[in-house]
Amino acid sequence: MWSSIFTIAVCLSFAAFIAAENTNSNTGFAQVLKPRPNPTPYPYHPGKPHYPSPPRTKTCYVPARGGGLDDSQAIYSAFEACNNGGTVAFLESNYTIAQPLNLTFLNAVDVSIQGEISINPNVQYWVQHAFQYAYQGSSLFWQFGGKDVNFYGGGTINGNGQAWWNILPTNSSIIRPHLIGVIGLHGGSFSNLNLINPPNWFHFVANSSDLIFDDMHLTAISNNTNPAANSDGWDLYKSDSIVIQNSVVLNDDDCISFKPNATNIVVQNMHCTNSHGISVGSLGQYVGEVDVVENLYVYNATMVTTGDAARIKVYGGIPPNSTSLSSGGGTGIIRNVTYSTVIDQADNYAIELTQCYGQTNITACNLYPSGVVIEDVLFENFSGTSGAYAPIVGTLVCSSPSLCSNIVAKNINITNISGAEAEWVCTNVDDSSLAINCIT
Ligand SMILES: *[C@@H]1O[C@H](CO)[C@@H](O)[C@H](O)[C@H]1NC(C)=O
Ligand SMILES: *[C@@H]1O[C@H](CO)[C@@H](O)[C@H](O)[C@H]1NC(C)=O
Ligand SMILES: *[C@@H]1O[C@H](CO)[C@@H](O)[C@H](O)[C@H]1NC(C)=O
Ligand SMILES: *[C@@H]1O[C@H](CO)[C@@H](O)[C@H](O)[C@H]1NC(C)=O
Ligand SMILES: *[C@@H]1O[C@H](CO)[C@@H](O)[C@H](O)[C@H]1NC(C)=O
Ligand SMILES: *[C@@H]1O[C@H](CO)[C@@H](O)[C@H](O)[C@H]1NC(C)=O
Ligand SMILES: *[C@@H]1O[C@H](CO)[C@@H](O)[C@H](O)[C@H]1NC(C)=O
Ligand SMILES: *[C@@H]1O[C@H](CO)[C@@H](O)[C@H](O)[C@H]1NC(C)=O
Ligand SMILES: *[C@@H]1O[C@H](CO)[C@@H](O)[C@H](O)[C@H]1NC(C)=O
Ligand SMILES: *[C@@H]1O[C@H](CO)[C@@H](O)[C@H](O)[C@H]1NC(C)=O
Ligand SMILES: *[C@@H]1O[C@H](CO)[C@@H](O)[C@H](O)[C@H]1NC(C)=O
Ligand SMILES: *[C@@H]1O[C@H](CO)[C@@H](O)[C@H](O)[C@H]1NC(C)=O
Repeated sequence: MWSSIFTIAVCLSFAAFIAAENTNSNTGFAQVLKPRPNPTPYPYHPGKPHYPSPPRTKTCYVPARGGGLDDSQAIYSAFEACNNGGTVAFLESNYTIAQPLNLTFLNAVDVSIQGEISINPNVQYWVQHAFQYAYQGSSLFWQFGGKDVNFYGGGTINGNGQAWWNILPTNSSIIRPHLIGVIGLHGGSFSNLNLINPPNWFHFVANSSDLIFDDMHLTAISNNTNPAANSDGWDLYKSDSIVIQNSVVLNDDDCISFKPNATNIVVQNMHCTNSHGISVGSLGQYVGEVDVVENLYVYNATMVTTGDAARIKVYGGIPPNSTSLSSGGGTGIIRNVTYSTVIDQADNYAIELTQCYGQTNITACNLYPSGVVIEDVLFENFSGTSGAYAPIVGTLVCSSPSLCSNIVAKNINITNISGAEAEWVCTNVDDSSLAINCIT
């Protein structure tokens, strides 16, 4: 609003400029502050209403030091100053984060990232200082949590993953942080942002609820022969009521992965290239753990040259006296999962459902079946092409007929690029509800 008066409340060397209200006045920064968008789940929603964010009443403009100098202290100060009702504005093109940021105390904050935030690729430093979590050995540069936080602005967050990918060939155990840590965030959104080159996953979303990801652009491209590694778009863990929509992903691992206890999830209008697909799991990996994924609706995904398009991966069981605690033997359930309207373009498999993940010996998988049951799964309206494993275009393998129920496939029209008639592997699954050409 032009009626707003820009006032500098605080101006310390490390602090943000704070304006009393959102303002479009000339602040001396590279851009003017954009209004907050209002991402809305469409056409499907996860059931519960999204928490409505009230308008924000002040703005903290984060200064950039430039030249690769660390801005993390100014960033932390801006979040403190604009917590409880403000907007943190990143309007410059050259922010650097070189120290971990624990931003889990947030309440009612908007975050407009209009410039670029780059994560300093000081591998040796981060290996010692990143936040660590037990789940899949996750580590994070920064983490966001709290209530009602909206990220937007059209800007870029650059993970400088290349520095990490280059080390992998000589140290495969290097602990690589995920680019965005969303830990215990309830209510909020991420929209219209570009994320590039994460050392590991793009998003780790854990212990969170009621979030919308909209109009996100995720790109992982290596500039040499060391490929991008494990660049999953989103991993949702112990999280409920999450929407991911209208987004474009170019990566080398899962486009989206529904990990243990991801519930009431909607994914729609997605475009994924080169990924391992939109994947439930892997589940059942750890002895003694109970994994649940339920009420998942995936609608309208275009999958280009992916390994799989729709994927459900569950570990098998393990022999009674096995000493391995991390290659199957967990329990749980996958229930009420729909993949509707999937467009395949030269994918390897249009559908890959397995209850024998991590076990190539099917006899052993049948002998020690999975502890994770799968029920009420619908694959419908798939079209397009597959090719790498022609004539096979998909596989559905359960470890026992009693552990998979009501698996339905209908209106599936996947053709082989070669022209060979499409064939499907269907093992231990009731093929009377599968309108596909099962050859086994
Ligand atoms: C980068 O940071 C410096 C120091 O804050 C600033 O003067 C400059 O305008 C910024 N932008 C670019 C494009 O260098
Ligand atoms: C991060 O901050 C939260 C409070 O918001 C605190 O409970 C937690 O211990 C902090 N984590 C670390 C690793 O410092
Ligand atoms: C490749 O990426 C590294 C790390 O980000 C960067 O330093 C280097 O300039 C890039 N090389 C090319 C050719 O783009
Ligand atoms: C590999 O990286 C880890 C840290 O993630 C470190 O502890 C280990 O010493 C490194 N190994 C080598 C051979 O550099
Ligand atoms: C999630 O919450 C659990 C406690 O319920 C805690 O142990 C865990 O560290 C939290 N964060 C992650 C990433 O798992
Ligand atoms: C499917 O999503 C694409 C974006 O990926 C969009 O352009 C298209 O309109 C959507 N189609 C339907 C039927 O919703
Ligand atoms: C997942 O949910 C199940 C059922 O509520 C629970 O037993 C299990 O402990 C949860 N797992 C995690 C990692 O929280
Ligand atoms: C199945 O999940 C959808 C959302 O994906 C939800 O609308 C529906 O109520 C769920 N059905 C059952 C029986 O839980
Ligand atoms: C497992 O170990 C117990 C005790 O050592 C032994 O009695 C039993 O035969 C073993 N079972 C299998 C399947 O190897
Ligand atoms: C089936 O998929 C096509 C795209 O291949 C889409 O145009 C159409 O709307 C979908 N039909 C239904 C009923 O969702
Ligand atoms: C597969 O597993 C069965 C049952 O454990 C075992 O008898 C067989 O030798 C295994 N086959 C191979 C090729 O390892
Ligand atoms: C299946 O797709 C092919 C290739 O797009 C098309 O020619 C054919 O008519 C479709 N079949 C049905 C039954 O829709």
